[in-house]
Amino acid sequence: MAKKGLFITFEGIDGCGKTTQLENVRKLLEENGIECVTTREPGALKLGSQIREILLHYDGVVADNCEIFLFLADRSQHVETFIKPMLTEGKVVLCDRHTDSTIAYQGYGRGGDVQKLTELNKIATNGLVPDLTLLFDVSVETGHERAGKDLDRLELAGKEFFERTRQGYLTLSRQYPERIKVINAEKSKESVYNDVKSLIMEIAGL
Ligand code: TYD
Repeated sequence: MAKKGLFITFEGIDGCGKTTQLENVRKLLEENGIECVTTREPGALKLGSQIREILLHYDGVVADNCEIFLFLADRSQHVETFIKPMLTEGKVVLCDRHTDSTIAYQGYGRGGDVQKLTELNKIATNGLVPDLTLLFDVSVETGHERAGKDLDRLELAGKEFFERTRQGYLTLSRQYPERIKVINAEKSKESVYNDVKSLIMEIAGL
């Protein structure tokens, strides 16, 4: 693939503030004349939004492997029909959650086989790897306070689950220190943005 753009993912447990920062980054890039698109997983596209509906709101039992394959199905469609074409056009793609979410949530959080999930991610993405991943690290307590009371099916999974997920993310950041940059997201929005901004300016060559 003639990849010209930049692929940047935003990760962290629920309520970490990544979506707000993604929007800040979009503004920063646009102000500097850099074309970018924002997107998310699960559920960026039409097919994906139907998968998202099942993942977040299905009121019956969803088997663990079923949940994994739904996330991967969404990712595969998203990568092939949106992310890769945008990168080929030279755009910066800002994506709210991607492969690391599966490793952190379904792997470390739910106790799935991390190695197998890593392989499945490779199949779903056809080998595409983000150029940069910003990991917004907050305590589970802060995350829950920020996320508010509107808990969906996945968020009802409990505190221990989120603690394992958070630790899983941190393990990933130690494994891939070049790609995954940890941002202390306990700080104020402004101060978090300062950290985000310097990383983005560097990778975007601003
Ligand atoms: P969403 O409402 O988009 O949450 P957030 O704003 O925190 O991103 O819901 C996405 C949920 O799906 C979130 O709890 C994380 C979870 N998720 C996984 O468990 N595995 C995955 O691979 C992805 C992409 C998301």
